[in-house]
Amino acid sequence: FQKKTLVGKKVLITAGPTFEAIDPVRGITNHSSGKMGFAIARAAVEAGAQVHLIAGPCDLDTPLLATGQITRTNVVSAKEMHEATLSAADSDVFFAVAAVADWGIAKPAKEKLKRQGNQAPSLEFVANPDILLDVAKTAKTKGGKPYPYCVGFAAESNDLEKHANEKRKRKDIPMIVGNIGPDTFGSDLNQLIVIDASGSKKIAKAEKLQLARQLIQLVAKKI
Ligand code: C5P
Repeated sequence: FQKKTLVGKKVLITAGPTFEAIDPVRGITNHSSGKMGFAIARAAVEAGAQVHLIAGPCDLDTPLLATGQITRTNVVSAKEMHEATLSAADSDVFFAVAAVADWGIAKPAKEKLKRQGNQAPSLEFVANPDILLDVAKTAKTKGGKPYPYCVGFAAESNDLEKHANEKRKRKDIPMIVGNIGPDTFGSDLNQLIVIDASGSKKIAKAEKLQLARQLIQLVAKKI
């Protein structure tokens, strides 16, 4: 059961991995399953929000589609995710949950790269745009509160709280959520630490949907 704390609110969410093409059949991606982002989408719909879910390639059904409260945009690359997200940035809350590739391939080949004996091709990378940073730059103040209220995610191998909070300040966002590893990727379970300017709060290990519901209620109080 979710309290209907987001009725009349628009929630934008990025979820899943991105895929950076090398050629028409190959590419670079990561192990994000999209489960956490999709769980947040479900919890936001339950709380009464109108949700726009922007998903990288992941094999998950759109939650609660029949409610009419959720629309989904499927994207492949970080660039596409950036474009789709920026044009939907006029929202009350933005959850940047996607594991966006930091680098794309400068010039993906139009045709499949052929083997050249035992020589390997060298790939040139370009830095991808930081979607969260760019959405945060568009944030305005509405009724004394940031609009959209941007929530970032962080997965770190060490000193999670310190690094996550540094990330929060660098991206100039009010809240960041740390994934307390090590078994986040693909798992139905997770454990979170929620950090804002007033301090941090742990959400104990639970199903991602249970965590998402708690997170939604925390964020609802901020907007
Ligand atoms: O900077 P870093 O990738 O560690 O930050 C993670 C947070 O930033 C996540 O919320 C992720 O969704 C977001 N991000 C993004 N666009 C990128 C890289 C990260 O929105 N290109």
